[in-house]
Amino acid sequence: MKLAIDRGRVLSEIEALASFSDAPPPSVTRIVFTPTDRRARAWLNERFEEAGLKARQDAIGNVFARWSGSDPTAPVVGTGSHIDAIPDAGKYDGVVGVLGGLEAIRALRRSGFRPKHSIELLVFTSEEPTRFGIGCLGSRLLSGTLSADAAAKLTDSDGASVEQVRFAAGFTGELATVKLADDYYKAFLELHIEQGPILEREHVPLGLVTHIAAPATLRMSVEGSGGHAGAVLMSDRRDALCAASELILAIENAARNSGATDSVATVGICEIFPGAVNSIPSLVRLGVDIRDTELHRRDSVIHQIEEASRAISEKRGVSIRTELLNADPPADCDSAIVDALAQSCKNRGLNFLPMTSRAYHDSLFMARIAPVAMLFIPCRSGYSHRPDEFASADDIARGIVVLADTLGALSA
Ligand code: GLV
Ligand code: MN
Ligand code: MN
Repeated sequence: MKLAIDRGRVLSEIEALASFSDAPPPSVTRIVFTPTDRRARAWLNERFEEAGLKARQDAIGNVFARWSGSDPTAPVVGTGSHIDAIPDAGKYDGVVGVLGGLEAIRALRRSGFRPKHSIELLVFTSEEPTRFGIGCLGSRLLSGTLSADAAAKLTDSDGASVEQVRFAAGFTGELATVKLADDYYKAFLELHIEQGPILEREHVPLGLVTHIAAPATLRMSVEGSGGHAGAVLMSDRRDALCAASELILAIENAARNSGATDSVATVGICEIFPGAVNSIPSLVRLGVDIRDTELHRRDSVIHQIEEASRAISEKRGVSIRTELLNADPPADCDSAIVDALAQSCKNRGLNFLPMTSRAYHDSLFMARIAPVAMLFIPCRSGYSHRPDEFASADDIARGIVVLADTLGALSA
């Protein structure tokens, strides 16, 4: 199929979307259901309308922009990603899959192609865990991984529930209606930056994901005893931060000592109370992210963290509470869709690498209700979740053309 990708337009749309941010450029911060997120969504809906797509949104705010096929009853071919961005992020994570998906659809339309299966561009709500503690809120609900009741009870750091926050943002309706039927999709494809260094290092322009690693998140709290930083003697202290420091190092060691380079653990949140220089910390809250390509190894790292927390609690006289927010299995991509992506790469003379995604994505959950595959493009130095995240115009355009070919092949 002859397809012309309007890379200038995609690049300018990436810049425009980045301007909806609660951090100064080049950082992008766009947290779900904030006024900034809502403005970005409104801007995006205008782009969908301009492209002739009919958009609907569900009760959690997942958006489905549809190009109706000649057989509207045939299962849908989906593509898309997310536009929420963690604090101090870059412009490309998720956005390349949404705006790249939009341009792939526009290019197919311009070429005169008419699909038999409808093609839907999805914008998932809250792929990032920033606000509600767990990632992929929209795709967990769509796939039935998370029940409506459990989702409604999640709260943000101000104690506001998903129900309160989504209603205030104008997303009403019953969460129970978000789940899609198991036969809704023929296929789902997600274009994304790699978020790691392999493609760039190997000088390969495209990665075909075959496997998505298993993520888990813990919320841990360490409670000791506060007091005056001058008056309480060292021998009388039960300092929550000193205990948490030991715990943080034990978490690092648990991943380092697993025997596999695929085991990773990160303490990305550390909140200290009361947070005054002359006050002994009485409470520390940690957010812990643990991942592995192998489920049993990921779970054994969690087990070691629990053992370490018991030992530290006893030794330091503090109480440590652990809440498991999510522990998800890995997912395999569908070999027929991966083959369709590979066929497009071959037709276009593009080199590709089969690879594992160590980051999680909405595709991890879409894999429960649809055959999925992911297409990675390189990002500079493998940087992601930081303001200097960058993907080149050539790499973005290559990703879009292969995505468009494959959407065309699957929807014909
Ligand atoms: C997604 O943002 C992830 O943390 O893998
Ligand atoms: Mn991300
Ligand atoms: Mn992402």
